[in-house]
Amino acid sequence: MHDHGPTRSHIHTKGDTIHWARSYDWLLSAITFGLEGRFRRRVVEAAGIGEGDRVLDIGCGTGTLAIEAARRVGASGRVEGVDPAPEMIERAKTKAEAAGVDAGFRLAAIEDLPYPDDHFDVVLNTLVYHHLPGPVQQKGLEEMRRVLAPGGRLFIVDFKIGDTFLHRVASSFMSHHHDDEEERGELDAAFTIAQRLGFEAVELERFRPRVFLALRATWPGDA
Ligand SMILES: C[S@@+](CC[C@H](N)C(=O)[O-])C[C@H]1O[C@@H](n2cnc3c(N)ncnc32)[C@H](O)[C@@H]1O
Repeated sequence: MHDHGPTRSHIHTKGDTIHWARSYDWLLSAITFGLEGRFRRRVVEAAGIGEGDRVLDIGCGTGTLAIEAARRVGASGRVEGVDPAPEMIERAKTKAEAAGVDAGFRLAAIEDLPYPDDHFDVVLNTLVYHHLPGPVQQKGLEEMRRVLAPGGRLFIVDFKIGDTFLHRVASSFMSHHHDDEEERGELDAAFTIAQRLGFEAVELERFRPRVFLALRATWPGDA
């Protein structure tokens, strides 16, 4: 029998966790043809992250996006990343340290965020929603609403539902063509839940590479 030892997650979640953190970075690099950095910068840009913002990246994986966000918010801001997989959190901490970036990483799941109410200006997650069963998506949006400060922004990126994953990823990096069909994909339910929970300006938009969609919304109140 294998002893999984201390790396075994003690965080309870019904989401699909990923424990192969090192290979995950290799996979991302391969399927983006080395353009992962560009993708991360586009997310930070599109989410409107700026100097001084307090940012939470949920399901942060190996921390690449949180590290990019930390560069953007500077010393007056703060970035936190959470993931229920210990291997991801360990790797994220190592990468942040190697990059000389100050960001906090904690073991936690979207359905039980270890932060007080009204705590963040921006809450992000990328490629996480398709890992969550329906009830966890609902609970996750309730938690994101709770930790967002008045006027705070939500920005979620995930896959459209389509033909095979690798084909869509590869073709989206090699082509700049866009079709006009409206698709909600993995974020269909999140869109409806966000509206029901009282988020304002809930919008779905295309996000490059075009295998992705982004959902943006604002929590009411003055920032
Ligand atoms: C495809 S990876 C995306 C990682 C990272 N956001 C990125 O863009 O590379 C999905 C991540 O969601 C995490 N995850 C699974 N269930 C979760 C939950 N309930 N709450 C937060 N994250 C979860 C997995 O452990 C994994 O790190």
